[in-house]
Amino acid sequence: MIKTRKKELGQFFTPARIARIAVSMVSKQQSDKFLAADPGYGEGALSLALIEKFPNVRIEGYEIDGNLVQRHKINDNIKIHHEDYLFKFNNNNYDLVICNPPYNRFQNYENINQIKNLENKLNIHINKLSSSYVLFIYKAIHELKQDGEAIFIVPIEFFNTKYGIDLKRQLHRERTLHSVVLFDTNSSHFDEAITTTCILKITKSANNFIRVCKDRDELIEITKLVNYSEITPEQKWFHIFTQEESFEFKNTAPLYKYAKVTRGIATGANHYFILTPSQVKDLKLPHASVKECIVRSSDVISPILDVQSFDLLKNSDRQVYIFTGSEIDDSATKKYIDYGLQLGVHLTFLNSRRTPWYKLEKSTVYPILLSVFDRSTIKAIYNKASVLNLTTFHGLHVNPLYHKYTKIIYLFFITNIANQMFKASKRIYGNGLLKLEPNDYNNTFLLDFEMIGTKDYNKLGHLFYELEVDNSFSSSIIKESELIFLQYLT
Ligand SMILES: C[S@@+](CC[C@H](N)C(=O)[O-])C[C@H]1O[C@@H](n2cnc3c(N)ncnc32)[C@H](O)[C@@H]1O
Repeated sequence: MIKTRKKELGQFFTPARIARIAVSMVSKQQSDKFLAADPGYGEGALSLALIEKFPNVRIEGYEIDGNLVQRHKINDNIKIHHEDYLFKFNNNNYDLVICNPPYNRFQNYENINQIKNLENKLNIHINKLSSSYVLFIYKAIHELKQDGEAIFIVPIEFFNTKYGIDLKRQLHRERTLHSVVLFDTNSSHFDEAITTTCILKITKSANNFIRVCKDRDELIEITKLVNYSEITPEQKWFHIFTQEESFEFKNTAPLYKYAKVTRGIATGANHYFILTPSQVKDLKLPHASVKECIVRSSDVISPILDVQSFDLLKNSDRQVYIFTGSEIDDSATKKYIDYGLQLGVHLTFLNSRRTPWYKLEKSTVYPILLSVFDRSTIKAIYNKASVLNLTTFHGLHVNPLYHKYTKIIYLFFITNIANQMFKASKRIYGNGLLKLEPNDYNNTFLLDFEMIGTKDYNKLGHLFYELEVDNSFSSSIIKESELIFLQYLT
């Protein structure tokens, strides 16, 4: 099927592992006979996992895509309806609805009467901005038997978006959200598409609290109980579900007392400005026309970025140079500038505002580089190679008054405790990525480094020296430093 049609129908099929986790949330006995629905059947990943655990289940699948319906292999437990689930009301009462619905925008259905009918039957108002999965959930709840349950795989943005508020109101009023399983964004088991989703269990009976769970190797572990009386539908639930119990630290000060975090260099046209060593050689560009620079976060995998590790990147011909133009009058540089003019690089938004257009916006070398996006832990790099950084990293510059704390600040940044302190500042984006803007860093309260006594100051200096030798994020030195910091914080 062509890509656009697949996208239109929201065809993302559930990996078997996730299907098993979804099925493990069903509270039935293995031998029970019951009736389930699998709306948006796809290739049947959820139904097949369900039958594996509950061999006596009867399932009704709904699938709009005729090709998938045709491909469906006959199975005694499953009956497929080649129909639009949203408009097919057959007065069934299901014991269970298990569903990975399409996440696309609710299409502007042509038949206005059909929409009115759906709104009346479900007693809702359909907002055109709503994603269709919300409608799938409303309909599933409507068709559940008393005490029945619905298991839905949905994007985590549901907890925070405006279009989800009406449904959150219903779940909150009726206390029907039983549990939520969040996936560990740091786990290698899951690809990106999965870490931005979660599983909801909705019951047709009231619950006192929402169980927030984490999947641990297909076993579901409760991490938090959220009392309905503590939350409102208008709040961003994702933050509430993931916030760890807050802990009051002593001896803290905002990072801006010691340092300033600033965005990295935006070139406006990386395809032109960013070069590999072989490109620099082929173009015969003199050293004065390029500067060393870290382009990708994945290029740095150890805490200390020293000259040797930067040389390794050069030797493997990674993009490590940024073209800066130069004052010197050499023909290769001029030729490359002319090439930029031919490409129209000087006309792009950022470059057209610079004089000359190829001049770097800044060329500050920051001693500490900090990740912008992350999954769950921030990445801090000690920039011993003194290279520039593009926007994949922010740069941290230490206030001259506190230069003597630079290495200690760095050690602090790679401890777990720093992660915990930054957690509350992170912003979650629609795609599930967590982002820290420069000011999110600057305004976070960390250890007030001046509180560190001379003996510990010297010990930390020594630990930094050992880290330079060890150069690993899994080093025990990080734990040792953390213990020293914790003495002051707790
Ligand atoms: C996200 S996929 C999930 C497929 C399958 N349940 C799974 O878990 O692998 C959603 C499926 O819903 C189907 N679909 C989209 N809109 C539908 C509708 N209105 N009624 C029935 N099926 C629909 C798509 O064709 C697609 O196969």
